[in-house]
Amino acid sequence: MSVLIAPSILSGDFANLGQTVEDLQASGADWIHVDVMDGCFVPNLTIGPQVVAALRPYAKIPFDVHLMIAQPERSIDHYVRAGADRITVHAEATVHLQRTLTAIREAGAKVGVAFNPSTSVEILPYIADVIDLVLVMTVNPGFGGQSFIPATLHKIKSVHEKLRELGRESVEIEVDGGVNEQTARLCTEAGATVLVAGSHVFSAPSLAHGITSLRV
Ligand code: DX5
Ligand code: ZN
Repeated sequence: MSVLIAPSILSGDFANLGQTVEDLQASGADWIHVDVMDGCFVPNLTIGPQVVAALRPYAKIPFDVHLMIAQPERSIDHYVRAGADRITVHAEATVHLQRTLTAIREAGAKVGVAFNPSTSVEILPYIADVIDLVLVMTVNPGFGGQSFIPATLHKIKSVHEKLRELGRESVEIEVDGGVNEQTARLCTEAGATVLVAGSHVFSAPSLAHGITSLRV
């Protein structure tokens, strides 16, 4: 199966996000990656459920909502109602992770768990049966345009191996941060199945070119 590309609207024009979402779909994006930041879990503040709901009619492809917020369990229902198809929470942001992941599934969305670059993935066996996606952060979350952290490649490989050992090879492995043509290839070779990209896609000659160039 070929890799999926999920452009991050964080690098789009915040005064025209509806148009951005529409353009990304027309340019071949597989998913729309929505970065939600609360100014607490990460030192940046972006958008909330009201904006996600306002953007949802602009595309039919899945909305992949990445919650970089503390205590995400408090807001899951809001994002599902706003039209999130997939919700990813950080393992570092919620005390009762298995409960939070189960709540996402019960609310009707696909379930993702994200790991910061310094977080171990040793807990995977305990949550493998309730997840659809593992998001390996390849930068520290909070901002677009940062450089890929090479040590995370080993983590992608280890997630790939662990999922196979657990009989959960259908779980997507998503990477997020510093993805460009070079790092995209390294990530897919390591086992990534979904690539998030912000600055690479939006600084390309066209969105379509930026997206296609990552299908290595
Ligand atoms: C970082 C966000 C990313 C970000 C990626 O905290 O989760 O989705 O937009 O941006 P680039 O591709 O520019 O590193
Ligand atoms: Zn993200």
